[in-house]
Amino acid sequence: MKLSICLFSFLILGVVSYENKFRFAGTVLCRSEKPWCVRIRVIEVDTLIDDTIAADDFCSTEQTRTYDIEGVDENDGILDRNFEIQMVVTHNCSRNTETVFKTGIKRIPLPKAPTEHATIRQHLNLNMNNSQ
Ligand SMILES: *[C@@H]1O[C@H](CO)[C@@H](O)[C@H](O)[C@H]1NC(C)=O
Repeated sequence: MKLSICLFSFLILGVVSYENKFRFAGTVLCRSEKPWCVRIRVIEVDTLIDDTIAADDFCSTEQTRTYDIEGVDENDGILDRNFEIQMVVTHNCSRNTETVFKTGIKRIPLPKAPTEHATIRQHLNLNMNNSQ
């Protein structure tokens, strides 16, 4: 009985998860006569269901806006060795309908302890539908 409890707690502690803090910041560019809206969603792509780490949405009449969003993702420590981070940007800058584009995937090695990661900077050009 005692042995099985010991073994059980070892297994639990062996795969204990810890927090990774992320911060994403940058500028959004949209040349438009009309007001425009954007939704920025940052996801971790290599899980079964894409995990949303952080999200923000806003509308603007300016040509340039900044964003600064934070989020936390748990590191399960067993499945893989990298965070694979991608932004999904939905906007109506250049058309009446919503346009969606994704940025390239950024791989961040998994740290071995709780970590506050350096801010990830990304410029989003909605007219080009890409990131630069
Ligand atoms: C984008 O959506 C907002 C809110 O629905 C609307 O006010 C704006 O005119 C739209 N912009 C364009 C370019 O369609």
